Amino acid sequence: MSLALAAFWAASAWTAGHVRAAPALHTAALLVHLVSLVAGFGAVLAVDYVGALWLLGRRTLCQVLELAAPLHTPIWAGLAGLTLSGVLLEPHLDSGLTQLKLVLVLMIALNGVQAGALQRRLAVCGDERPPRPLLVRGAVSALVSQLGWWGALLIGFYNAQG
Ligand code: HEM
Repeated sequence: MSLALAAFWAASAWTAGHVRAAPALHTAALLVHLVSLVAGFGAVLAVDYVGALWLLGRRTLCQVLELAAPLHTPIWAGLAGLTLSGVLLEPHLDSGLTQLKLVLVLMIALNGVQAGALQRRLAVCGDERPPRPLLVRGAVSALVSQLGWWGALLIGFYNAQG
């Protein structure tokens, strides 16, 4: 799975360097980019918010996992939509910030694969407190996800100002 994602990421980065989009297609791609951002990052924020409520003792682990399960679809669809539309937005691949943004996107995707595996292991724990290593892995995964999404969002916003 991780290998397939890395291959998809590399193929889209390569394509982005060879694509010329007509102005109308560029505008449509920007709309898809923003809609995908709302869907993907919105779902990520919902999962992390309920996760934070669990850490504060205001939700059970089962409630968190139940909410998170169906949100995988908008998260992955959003990330795929951002990548496909981003290719048509003709990124400046020679810019260091844009390169960093693409690395963040790959990081988000690989982190998502291991977060899915972690979620399946946590589901086995039911409402008991999971072992400490799983908790630490969950916290690191949430942090990496937030850093990746906020970083890519801020770089996209900054690049669009130029
Ligand atoms: C987590 C993934 C991503 C996030 C959160 C994100 C976020 C954003 C945001 C907020 C903008 C500014 C839109 C505006 O105000 O006009 C933007 C623009 C853009 N994004 Fe992304 N993006 C992501 C992935 C990608 C990918 C994978 C690519 C390329 C393959 C890409 C290429 C672009 C380009 C070229 C622009 C236009 C910048 C300009 O006007 O010069 N983005 N992105």
